[in-house]
Amino acid sequence: MDWEAFFTVHRGLPREGPGTAEDVAWACGLAGLPEGAVICDAGCGPGGDIAALLDAVPGARVVSVDKSAGFVAEAAARFAGEARVSVVEGDLGALPGAYDMIWCAGALYFLGLRDGLAAMARALKPGGVLAFSEPCFFTDAPGAEARAFWEGYPAQSAEGIAAAVTAAGFDVLGTRKVPDAGWEAYYRPMEARIAALRPDADARLAAMLDLCAAEAVAWRQVRDETGYLLCVARLS
Ligand SMILES: C[S@@+](CC[C@H](N)C(=O)[O-])C[C@H]1O[C@@H](n2cnc3c(N)ncnc32)[C@H](O)[C@@H]1O
Repeated sequence: MDWEAFFTVHRGLPREGPGTAEDVAWACGLAGLPEGAVICDAGCGPGGDIAALLDAVPGARVVSVDKSAGFVAEAAARFAGEARVSVVEGDLGALPGAYDMIWCAGALYFLGLRDGLAAMARALKPGGVLAFSEPCFFTDAPGAEARAFWEGYPAQSAEGIAAAVTAAGFDVLGTRKVPDAGWEAYYRPMEARIAALRPDADARLAAMLDLCAAEAVAWRQVRDETGYLLCVARLS
């Protein structure tokens, strides 16, 4: 990956993966958190979900964690002066914990589902709640394009994901598909950035612009077959 070119495209975007404030509110509603709960935004990117987490849980404190120093700096700048938010550089596999809830949008699968669930379980308080989005097929017979979209990651059915969550020691509270609006909230600002950069792009940057643009096109072709399942589960 050409990270310099990647960050030229992605620096300063509102979010780095699909999601909506409604998703956050729905998950927090299922979690039924106490006032003053401590929530970890694991793999926070530039902090696109932090405001929604603060809105959804009155009095909550949000600890946002990402391994990318650039995204950590962006999220920290967005919430500078907000005492309820801290943003730290760290690894999803070794979250300090212990949290009442972990919100993990589009990031747990970087560890793999089984290892990711085990890492989250280690970082939750007993009875704590995990909400995460996971690559999922919404048809029994996904086509080659839908499979290729995840570049080798073993996306699976909603039932398969729920079974893995249960096997990891959680009780599933609810699942739902991340809506198309959540994907567009990620891709549209990225496409506007691509259009702005295109006229002056050198060959290296142009290759990255093509790669990022192709991802959005590919998702729109397969969106009825695959996407993210948002899963909310309580550690039993
Ligand atoms: C697809 S982005 C999602 C970002 C954010 N949750 C959002 O929805 O806008 C995945 C994020 O996970 C972070 N990430 C990936 N692997 C990680 C790891 N092992 N530890 C910490 N962060 C990680 C990346 O740096 C990136 O910011």
